[in-house]
Amino acid sequence: MTAHERLVGVVGTGTMGQGIAQVALVAGHPVRLYDAVPGRAKSAAEAIAARLGRLVEKGRMSADERAAAVGRLAPAQTLDELADAALVVEAVLERLDVKQALLRDLEAVVADDCLLATNTSSLSVTAIGGAMRLPGRFVGLHFFNPAPLMPLVEVVSGSATDVTAATRAYETARAWGKTPVACADTPGFLVNRIARPFYAEAFAVYEDQGAEPATIDAVLRESGGFRMGAFELTDLIGQDVNEAVTRSVWEGFFQDVKFRPSLAQRRLVEAGRTGRKSGQGWYAYGEGEERPEPRTEAPADQPAYVVAEGDLGPAREVLALIREAGIEVREEDEDNGTRLVLPGGGQLALADGQTSIEYRDVVYFDLALDYRKATRIALAAARDANQRTVQEAVGLFQALGKDVSVIGDVPGMIVARTVARIIDLAHDAVAKGVATEEDVDTAMRLGVNYPLGPIEWSRRLGKNWAYALLDDLHLRDPSGRYAPSLALYRHSYAPDKREGSA
Ligand SMILES: NC(=O)c1ccc[n+]([C@@H]2O[C@H](COP(=O)([O-])OP(=O)(O)OC[C@H]3O[C@@H](n4cnc5c(N)ncnc54)[C@H](O)[C@@H]3O)[C@@H](O)[C@H]2O)c1
Repeated sequence: MTAHERLVGVVGTGTMGQGIAQVALVAGHPVRLYDAVPGRAKSAAEAIAARLGRLVEKGRMSADERAAAVGRLAPAQTLDELADAALVVEAVLERLDVKQALLRDLEAVVADDCLLATNTSSLSVTAIGGAMRLPGRFVGLHFFNPAPLMPLVEVVSGSATDVTAATRAYETARAWGKTPVACADTPGFLVNRIARPFYAEAFAVYEDQGAEPATIDAVLRESGGFRMGAFELTDLIGQDVNEAVTRSVWEGFFQDVKFRPSLAQRRLVEAGRTGRKSGQGWYAYGEGEERPEPRTEAPADQPAYVVAEGDLGPAREVLALIREAGIEVREEDEDNGTRLVLPGGGQLALADGQTSIEYRDVVYFDLALDYRKATRIALAAARDANQRTVQEAVGLFQALGKDVSVIGDVPGMIVARTVARIIDLAHDAVAKGVATEEDVDTAMRLGVNYPLGPIEWSRRLGKNWAYALLDDLHLRDPSGRYAPSLALYRHSYAPDKREGSA
């Protein structure tokens, strides 16, 4: 059967239902829409037709293609009209009882070989399908909003899902022009699980008085290479929506401290400061409001030289940049790993999960995705730090063409701890069979636009970089929040295969 003959049913025609219907329609399927609220399926069909009209105006679709697509789209008055569907995707209210009842009703209508799918973002696929007669043909097809634009689809297999059903769903998503990833039915699936620390660590740095939102956002963007900072992104998503995802993953993992929600975000939600949509979130969005500037240091003198006691590990590019800036690098034989000594005798060290206050005279600098491209570097110094060391460190990075933000003495800084925790959750998910390394990386690049997949990032940073940093953080915050997973331990300390085969 060609796509043209295979009827797709979409139940629940709100934001996601409309988006999914549009995707199926453009891929060539006839599509029938059903919604519990009378008239809503019809207005959804009109909204989709209007959206396709805008694609024609933008030259992304021909008028003939649009006419044919609109001709294949029809609202249904009752669920019975989906009887001939080869696939039904539900995108109704996010409530287990509502979805379970709908699936039972659908099974009474469609043929036994009809593939049934849910677009749930936070419920268990296994639980939704629990009351079905044939749960083997039920699968999660998790599209992201806006479905026509977002390339990623998580294909979620519940405990009862047949391999053939998962494969059909996977191939369908691919035929619809999407990039599917296969994953198991665990809280948050892939993206919503592994992305939690991106928000949580930014909020924690703020709560620990490390820096204010505008500075943390600027560091995540300009140093970390993330498209948006956590504060501006959650203002866009909606603090209520973002917090609800965090809470559902946290509850799903039996309130594991690694997923604990943020008190500061809770207060925003309680106050109705949900972000752009309410005119106020972490930032204000009223008429004439301007985004606060990140904290940026005034120009400081560059040091005449630095002493390198090692190759700086994942920050080794900094040494090349210092030389290119015409600053002498004196190399010492003593290998002190990731530290530089400044002319005043103070040290500059890559963020490693320790605090500046533990040492007599150390300033930390944050991890960057790419030190050459980074336009800002964060430095952390204890409150009573030696000001000469701070100023030499500021002057050094300014000489490399970077803006510099001096933040509070938070261990693991901003980018480093965020990336380390994301890497940990990624390895943990792979070790638990949730998805392959490749699919984890694809999901994070396409689902939340990360500049690198976390597994690839961990490869570039070195085998035990994330483990060592989290281990240090865990020592300083023994709540368990930073405890590295067994999976990360294994990954970091397993002998190299080539060595082992000797
Ligand atoms: N909005 C997102 O960003 C997003 C992203 C991914 C997944 N999801 C998931 O997609 C689903 C829908 O979300 P949404 O944002 O489109 O919601 P929405 O509120 O925009 O739309 C839900 C629609 O379902 C209809 N509905 C409710 N109960 C029904 C029933 N029993 N039978 C038929 N129709 C029913 C409602 O009338 C409404 O039109 C949820 O499961 C949600 O978790 C949402």
